Amino acid sequence: MVKKEITLSPSLLSCDFARVGEQLKELENAGVKWLHLDVMDGAFVPNISFGIPVIKSIRKSSPLFFDTHLMINAPERYIEQFAKAGSDCITFHVEATSSPAAVLDMIHAQHKLAGISVKPGTPVQSVYPLLEKCDLLLIMSVEPGFGGQSYIESATEKIRLAANYIKRKKLKTLVSVDGGIDVRTAPAAASAGADVLVAGSAIFGKGDITAAAEALRKAVNGR
Ligand code: DX5
Ligand code: ZN
Repeated sequence: MVKKEITLSPSLLSCDFARVGEQLKELENAGVKWLHLDVMDGAFVPNISFGIPVIKSIRKSSPLFFDTHLMINAPERYIEQFAKAGSDCITFHVEATSSPAAVLDMIHAQHKLAGISVKPGTPVQSVYPLLEKCDLLLIMSVEPGFGGQSYIESATEKIRLAANYIKRKKLKTLVSVDGGIDVRTAPAAASAGADVLVAGSAIFGKGDITAAAEALRKAVNGR
């Protein structure tokens, strides 16, 4: 059996914002293809990060696949703007809206990939009825809001359950995992069936971005 290649999605939240252009170039040179963009509103989560103008600005110089993670209440208010800012995939939280199916449709109407995310306390089974409409399922392995937290072990079982369900139903949904991913925790998430690994501090917190991306890739892909 050929092992699938895992996609790394470094989280911009942990970058050095004074040197963002330089650091994005470094990711590109390291062969990274995705960039995870954590948008926080200070209401859905107890933190505020960045938003539309920042995404729009880095879009001009970065060819990376923009994997936008909206941690905002009522995301339906801003889908069009995040699409126009340059997101390639827009993921929102099932806990943040009363009409998740309609939000998925809104994202697709903008010709973008659509993702749904579950917090650690939300059973992954609760989004199964929506997966047919989802290009990506983002399983949170920390409470959303901050980088640099520890991986919550129970996420591994959620990844396994969802990946098996997706396979059984012959769906195309990618499984992504977000929070506390490093060389120590990534192998379990990958072997449970994750397709995408989001990593902030493990990529940007070590000084050498290229070496950190390489180490993480090696931990899961074995090369
Ligand atoms: C947390 C964010 C994550 C975070 C991950 O709310 O969704 O994407 O940046 O950071 P690390 O990899 O440091 O846990
Ligand atoms: Zn995130």
